[in-house]
Amino acid sequence: MRIVSGIQPTGNLHLGNYLGAIRNWVGMQDEWTAKGATCLYFLADLHAISMPHEPASLAANTREMVAALVSCGIDPDRSILFNQAQVPAHAELQWLLNGTARMGWLNRMTQWKDKAGKNREGASVALFTYPVLQAADVLLYQATHVPVGEDQKQHLELARDVAQKFNNDFASEDAPVFTLPDPIIPPQAARIMSLRDGSAKMSKSDPSDMSRINLVDDADTIMAKIKKAKTDPEPLPETAEGLEGRPEARNLVGIYATMAGTDVASVLTQFGGQGFGQFKPALGDLLVEKLAPMAARYRELREDQGALDAILRKGAEKARALATPTLDAAYQALGLVR
Ligand code: TYM
Repeated sequence: MRIVSGIQPTGNLHLGNYLGAIRNWVGMQDEWTAKGATCLYFLADLHAISMPHEPASLAANTREMVAALVSCGIDPDRSILFNQAQVPAHAELQWLLNGTARMGWLNRMTQWKDKAGKNREGASVALFTYPVLQAADVLLYQATHVPVGEDQKQHLELARDVAQKFNNDFASEDAPVFTLPDPIIPPQAARIMSLRDGSAKMSKSDPSDMSRINLVDDADTIMAKIKKAKTDPEPLPETAEGLEGRPEARNLVGIYATMAGTDVASVLTQFGGQGFGQFKPALGDLLVEKLAPMAARYRELREDQGALDAILRKGAEKARALATPTLDAAYQALGLVR
């Protein structure tokens, strides 16, 4: 079993990242490494250059994201934690897979359509081929499971298509070069929504900081953001069906359930019939209680740049060793002489 996933170091870790992905990264690490599985978690710094960026901020954000992941429970002794830029095999395999991926497949990607918007001619080539690099990220390590939020599902389907076509075109049936990876998406936190708009996902790129809870937010900020979160005037329903058509209410209840380690039905048993005036302070308290220890560790860890760089260096060394056999097999399958 190989568990592989990545996050872009483009800003603060927010609640969507945490509940949609990182909590599962930690859970899978805790459950599976003890049974011999390998977990590889990386900072997708090569993906981060597909959009306009400040080099100095990218370097700072990369180190801060390592500190954030470790403070959330990623243990660099049990998981392989690294950044793509220190493992050249990611970029190499992407080029090899560019021969297999089809323009039509990439043209259908919703992230490409959203991020390029109307200005496709002005978008970077990297933004277009972004999903091929993402396919390389997981195929390189023969990933079997990829814990992600719902928004990455389409990219993983593409990774499977790329793997399948490459295997069909260049490998024999009994010796495929790549494993087809399965996405692992948390049922209640697949898509955490913005606190200001129940139809938009919580995102680093939202210009309003009030739209998201960041790992680094202090208790007062968290309480204020939850208090100001958009809701409707109705009290909470008694059952999950009552959340239909109430995206903001559904989002807050989903956050509560996931954070408390329970389900939506139990949260509604407790809070059904109550107004947001009662529910919001309870949600704020729960978030503060769960996030504060991580935020405290984060503030400590981020100070030691040497230690953070050492984590990435060691992780990259292990990742390079694991990547080599698959990369070699891909070169060979394509008939490239080295
Ligand atoms: P990124 O950096 O946007 O997000 C990191 C992880 O957080 C999840 N996520 C969410 N989950 C639920 N609700 C939300 N509002 C929310 N926002 C973000 C994402 O689904 C993701 O799992 N392309 C990827 C990084 C990547 C990657 C990979 C992931 C590069 N290569 C290979 C998996 C495997 C990205 O930009 O994630």
